[in-house]
Amino acid sequence: FYIAPAIHGPCLDISYWTSCCWHCSETPVLPAKPIIAAKYPFQVDLEAGKRYAWCACGHSKKQPFCDGSHKTAAPDISPVRFKLDEPKSVWLCGCKHTKSPPYCDGTHKEEFIQKAELPNQP
Ligand code: FES
Repeated sequence: FYIAPAIHGPCLDISYWTSCCWHCSETPVLPAKPIIAAKYPFQVDLEAGKRYAWCACGHSKKQPFCDGSHKTAAPDISPVRFKLDEPKSVWLCGCKHTKSPPYCDGTHKEEFIQKAELPNQP
């Protein structure tokens, strides 16, 4: 397919991200990616009505919550802010690749997570 350069900005056709985009001749821009903070989810007991910020970039030292690290380590990624109506024990994603943030959806069981080398983990 072809989308006129004037309306599409950075190329969205990922099949051409390895080289220069032939659609528009602009240098493709890759989306910001999180790093894997852990290969498992974090079980946490959350309070009702309290505001939480789940780390989406993976750089926080206070996993699974945001400590502001994204501002320098991953400025294009923002934490997911949420609040619960009732107190609950939940599993928050540690691999940062869940498709239903901030909750674990089982993605951490996939090979690309389990086989990944993490600098700060055994
Ligand atoms: S820890 Fe990320 S999907 Fe389970």
